[in-house]
Amino acid sequence: MGAVPGGRALLTEPGWTDSWYGDLYDESVADLLTPRLSELESAAIRRLLGMGSADRVLDLACGHARHARLLAPCVREVVGLDRDAGYLARARGSGADLVRGDLRALPFAAGAFDAAYSWYASLFVYDDPGNEAALREAARVVRPGGRLLVQHANPLVLARRPVERTERDLPGGGRVAEDSHYDPGTGRDRLKRRLTRRDGTVLAGTAHLRYYTPEEWEPLARRAGLRLVRITSTSQAERPPERLDEHAPDLIALAEKLE
Ligand SMILES: C[S@@+](CC[C@H](N)C(=O)[O-])C[C@H]1O[C@@H](n2cnc3c(N)ncnc32)[C@H](O)[C@@H]1O
Repeated sequence: MGAVPGGRALLTEPGWTDSWYGDLYDESVADLLTPRLSELESAAIRRLLGMGSADRVLDLACGHARHARLLAPCVREVVGLDRDAGYLARARGSGADLVRGDLRALPFAAGAFDAAYSWYASLFVYDDPGNEAALREAARVVRPGGRLLVQHANPLVLARRPVERTERDLPGGGRVAEDSHYDPGTGRDRLKRRLTRRDGTVLAGTAHLRYYTPEEWEPLARRAGLRLVRITSTSQAERPPERLDEHAPDLIALAEKLE
């Protein structure tokens, strides 16, 4: 497989995501990412991608490989790629082949995978040209006719309550507070999170995530060399296609690589 020039350089450049996705993200969502949730999500990924036992599949920004772990027994190979060495250390023993890399310059040859997926708003954390480039790069490594799945929050939900403050206690002690501000005009969600640990230490960070609407997805996919197959949600993945509305918990875009 050919390495992509520039991949290593991107990896060593500091990015805003490194501080957000370190301990702050990990400790503040650990109790929410239950085994049951990961099972439901993995079943949706498997079904929507139509995964077969001979397939080679890429988990883009795999984190600690909670999906790759469940999907690895179903296919020939799952490769989990992430930028964070700490998450990859936790992903060891998952059954996935782990690669440290940057999703903006994937160290894989064109068409190397039968399918790829990116779960939990991991792909669109840049400006619009950067996001489009990330999607193009994901599409590049999928073979013609192969499928790509991208999951993020449902912007139709956020448009109804664009400003929100949430606070909750963590099961092991500590408290997390978050202010989110979603701008429907730009599709960008700004999250300010502050985690106060049980011992009083504080971790804080800001994330900027871009959620594309169902209408935006079609041209976005086309520009990346993909055909949009379906917009759906985890809650709808088992059902025949229906229109995504503001009750769906998330948005899943399923696309096929053009020949
Ligand atoms: C919200 S987490 C999702 C992890 C996993 N997909 C899940 O659902 O549990 C986002 C992940 O993206 C990774 N990440 C952020 N920017 C990245 C980049 N440029 N290249 C590769 N991984 C990146 C982070 O390290 C983190 O593991």
